[in-house]
Amino acid sequence: MDATSSSNDFTTKCQTSERLPAQLPDLVKQAIPNHVAIIMDGNGRWAQAKGKPRIVGHRAGVKAVRSAVGTARKLGIKSLTLFAFSSENWRRPDQEVSLLMELFFTVLRREIKKLHANGVRLNIIGDISRFSERLQKQIRAAEAYTADNTQLILNVAANYGGRWDIVQAARTLAEKVAAGEMSSSQLTESALAAHLCMQNQGEVDLMIRTGGDYRISNFILWQAAYAELVFMDTLWPDFDEATFCQAIEMFSNRQRRFGLTGNQIEKIRNI
Ligand code: FPP
Repeated sequence: MDATSSSNDFTTKCQTSERLPAQLPDLVKQAIPNHVAIIMDGNGRWAQAKGKPRIVGHRAGVKAVRSAVGTARKLGIKSLTLFAFSSENWRRPDQEVSLLMELFFTVLRREIKKLHANGVRLNIIGDISRFSERLQKQIRAAEAYTADNTQLILNVAANYGGRWDIVQAARTLAEKVAAGEMSSSQLTESALAAHLCMQNQGEVDLMIRTGGDYRISNFILWQAAYAELVFMDTLWPDFDEATFCQAIEMFSNRQRRFGLTGNQIEKIRNI
C-alpha cells in the first residue's frame, strides 16, 4: 500500500475531512525509526571514574560510535545523526579542544574505508569553516569518497548548533528574497526546512541522550520537533548494541500522536 492510499483509508476510517499528511499512517505504525539522533554524553565522566584523563573517554567513545553505526545498519535505520562537537564546545579547555580535533582527524582517516565498504555515506553538518584547513580537507575528501552510498547516512554534527542551522537557512532565504528569486510569501515551513543542513533526510524520529542529563543542548531543534526523546544514564563509551536496542524498544512502545487524539491513533494503527 502506498502512502497516499493508506492516508485515504485513514481519512475515511477516522471520519475526518481534514487533510492529513500522507506519511502519517506510516509514521504512527513505525517500530524502527528512520532517523535517530544521539547526544553522546558522558565520555569525560567515564574516564574520570577510571582515574584517567578525559581524552581517554573520547577515544573510548569512538568505539561506541562504531558500534552504533553497526547497529543502525543492522536495524535498517536510514539516518544516524551524532553530536560530536557543539558550537559551545569551543569553550572547553584549549588542550581538550585540540585533542578532540586531532581525534576527529584520525577517526576520519582511519574509518572512512570501512564506512565505505559498509555502504555508509558520511555527511558532516555544522560550520566547518572554523576548523583547520587540514581537517576541512579531510572532511571534504571523506564526504566525496562515500557520496554515492545508500545503506545509511551518518551525519556527524561538528561545530553544529540547532539555532545556527535555522539562522543559516533563514539567511539563505532572505538573500533569495533580496535577489528577487522568491517572494516573502513563499517563506513557508517547507521552504525553510529545505535549506537546513539535512534537507533531504526525514525528520528525526528518535533523539537519544546518554550520560544522565535531560537536555537537548541546542542539538537538532527544527527537525526534532516531533522526535521521541529517550534519556539514558549510560555513559557514552558504554553505549552498546543492547543499550541501542533498549532505546529502540522504548521508541516502539511510545504512542506518537502528532496532534491527534489517542483514539484516532489507535484507528490508524488498526488499518
Ligand atoms: C561529550 O562527552 C562528548 C563529546 C563532546 C565528544 C564526542 C566525541 C566522540 C565520541 C569521538 C569522535 C566521534 C566522531 C563521530 C568522529 P563529555 O566530554 O561532555 O562528557 P562529560 O559530560 O562526562 O564531561
